[in-house]
Amino acid sequence: MEDAQLYVSANAMQRRDALLVLSEYLPQMSWQEEGEAVLDIGCGSGDVTRNLLMPLLPRVEQVTGVDVSSEMVGYASKTFQHNTLSFRHLDIENSIQPRQIFPDGFTKVFSFYCLHWVRGQDQCLRNIYQLLQPGGEALLVFLANNPLFTMYENMSLKPQWHQYMQDVSNYVSVYQHKSDPAQAMVEVAEEAGFEVVSCEAPTLEFIFQNINYVKNAIKAVNPFVKRVPQEKQEAFLKECLTELASLKTQRSDGQMVASHTWDDARVYCQDRGGDLACIHSCDDFGQIVRHIHMSGQEVPLDFSYWVGGTDRGDEGAWFWVDNTPMVLGVPFWGEINSTVHEPSGGVDQNCAQMFHNDRYYMHDGECDKHAYALCQYGIVGTYQG
Ligand SMILES: C[S@@+](CC[C@H](N)C(=O)[O-])C[C@H]1O[C@@H](n2cnc3c(N)ncnc32)[C@H](O)[C@@H]1O
Repeated sequence: MEDAQLYVSANAMQRRDALLVLSEYLPQMSWQEEGEAVLDIGCGSGDVTRNLLMPLLPRVEQVTGVDVSSEMVGYASKTFQHNTLSFRHLDIENSIQPRQIFPDGFTKVFSFYCLHWVRGQDQCLRNIYQLLQPGGEALLVFLANNPLFTMYENMSLKPQWHQYMQDVSNYVSVYQHKSDPAQAMVEVAEEAGFEVVSCEAPTLEFIFQNINYVKNAIKAVNPFVKRVPQEKQEAFLKECLTELASLKTQRSDGQMVASHTWDDARVYCQDRGGDLACIHSCDDFGQIVRHIHMSGQEVPLDFSYWVGGTDRGDEGAWFWVDNTPMVLGVPFWGEINSTVHEPSGGVDQNCAQMFHNDRYYMHDGECDKHAYALCQYGIVGTYQG
């Protein structure tokens, strides 16, 4: 990771998670009167250290951010350094005797989204332990299992990208394939000398509201892209995105999800040889809703699946993308607050979606808002009305 500027512009998920964990665990840590010496390992661009961590710390004397990347340390120093915050180079995995670099040690150690980059967890945890003063505390947040890593693994099997990704396993979290990653982490930490107060591997979902944001987020942390010749980088990233989206579609292990505008959702389905779903019968409708429930492909509450219906060309004249007219009313369309019948959005809402909050009954939505794509393959072009 070297492009600090890109990372700062695309790290909403990392910031969300840092905030989530800090809100839960900072109050549980013990804070001493005389101020704390704080270390943030893998501080990257430094914005999480400066803008999230520091304002939440009850008492601070000095905060030090460290990172293995000189580019990141340079950016962080230039952008965020001030009298109580400094940045230094440190490889937490390969450093021998880090306490020689920081002889006073630290009372608190934090690390956000860094340790999944580390292969040698034992040495890393021993180094963190060594950097802590007696009675010090550490809060370590990182990815255990993530579809991002499955995407790397799948991409590395493709002949056109294999040569750039032969060492893919070096960039997959060592906990990715563990059945109980939290327990595995506890064992390494205890072996290093820690008394573990809490170790959890919760399943979190993050909704990227914009496909370009996902692309930048992937690019910012993707260790392979700079190995790919410049002229192929765009194709590589696009395929990373497609691969990631397909993991979400199958919901095999994925929480990292991407949503689309109605038009983008349509292109997404067409790229896979289909189109947005056209639902012509009550039976089809019921089967699709059942399939969503049974296959665990629920979208978050307040979210929807785009389907292939629109009245964009002619207000009030709803057609499926296979050019057949859409039946209005029951049993397809839902209601708002059991009073207003959908579609009710007039000229502002011209695309059809199955709305989770209304048991997936159809609502009209603004076509440029984001929802998930409900694709259908092998669309039959005729309709018996
Ligand atoms: C995804 S960034 C996280 C940055 C920041 N903590 C945040 O939450 O936004 C991960 C950082 O860990 C750093 N890193 C990876 N391996 C490291 C190591 N062995 N020692 C120190 N830093 C490392 C990378 O250079 C990168 O800047």
